[in-house]
Amino acid sequence: MENWTEIDRRVRLWIEEAGKAIRRSFKHSLSIQTKSNPNDLVTNIDKETERFFISNVRQTFPGHLILGEEGQGDHLSSLNGIVWIIDPIDGTMNFVHQQRHFAISIGVYEDGVGRLGYVYDVTHDELYCAERGKGAYMNGVQLPKLSSVPIEKALIAVNATWLVKNAYFDERKLVELATKVRGVRSYGSAALEMAYVASGRLDSYLTMRLSPWDFAAGKILIEEVGGVVSNLSGEPLDMLNRNSVFASSPGLHETILHHFLLEK
Ligand code: IPD
Ligand code: CA
Ligand code: CA
Repeated sequence: MENWTEIDRRVRLWIEEAGKAIRRSFKHSLSIQTKSNPNDLVTNIDKETERFFISNVRQTFPGHLILGEEGQGDHLSSLNGIVWIIDPIDGTMNFVHQQRHFAISIGVYEDGVGRLGYVYDVTHDELYCAERGKGAYMNGVQLPKLSSVPIEKALIAVNATWLVKNAYFDERKLVELATKVRGVRSYGSAALEMAYVASGRLDSYLTMRLSPWDFAAGKILIEEVGGVVSNLSGEPLDMLNRNSVFASSPGLHETILHHFLLEK
């Protein structure tokens, strides 16, 4: 039997320590590299932070497995067992350019079911966390269950690259949606945007292509407050591969899905 209280205690300590180290790094120059394309950035701090979490998890919970964005974890073909899904810095471009609007994102899954989720806004020192069945919290204050919001009053977030014609989705659907809602935002950190949905700062978040480490923690947070997380076709997310993601407060998920996303 896993001791979830002990796992939770450890993650909080590690997140606090990693957050301090990242804030200290603001004073030093970064070593920046690119990955899949010139705008896909990774820094020495992303790598160091991932290494920090992985070595702590391996030392403290040797039976657990790890999926990490920077590739220092395990290569998994299933989510059997306890799996930590870690994005050491989600929103690296914001980290590099703005020193804000980025987060540490950690989801702990048991046989594919999300048990613990953490999104830590490092600059604002805001920790969003949830334990399955025990509610979601922001800095110790419980987040209320989400209620249905009429589409005319909805504040939504989208990935701004969607404005460009793309192979994944008909962007005209988004234009229609943007015309209907109260406002549209784009923050550049999927984990934070999902934490904002969980905390009611946003009503929905839609994006074309995310990896499991981008949404693993946010999904747990949102589901814990009664929100819905699916792909843009309304199907469950595949936790081992890339997906489009549509996260929303409950009634609004259905409205947007049926009136804007699915073929009419
Ligand atoms: C990125 C951010 C961004 C999303 C990208 C992700 P990274 O994560 O979440 O908001 O649009 O698809 O790759 O690379 O900064 O960890
Ligand atoms: Ca990410
Ligand atoms: Ca990252």
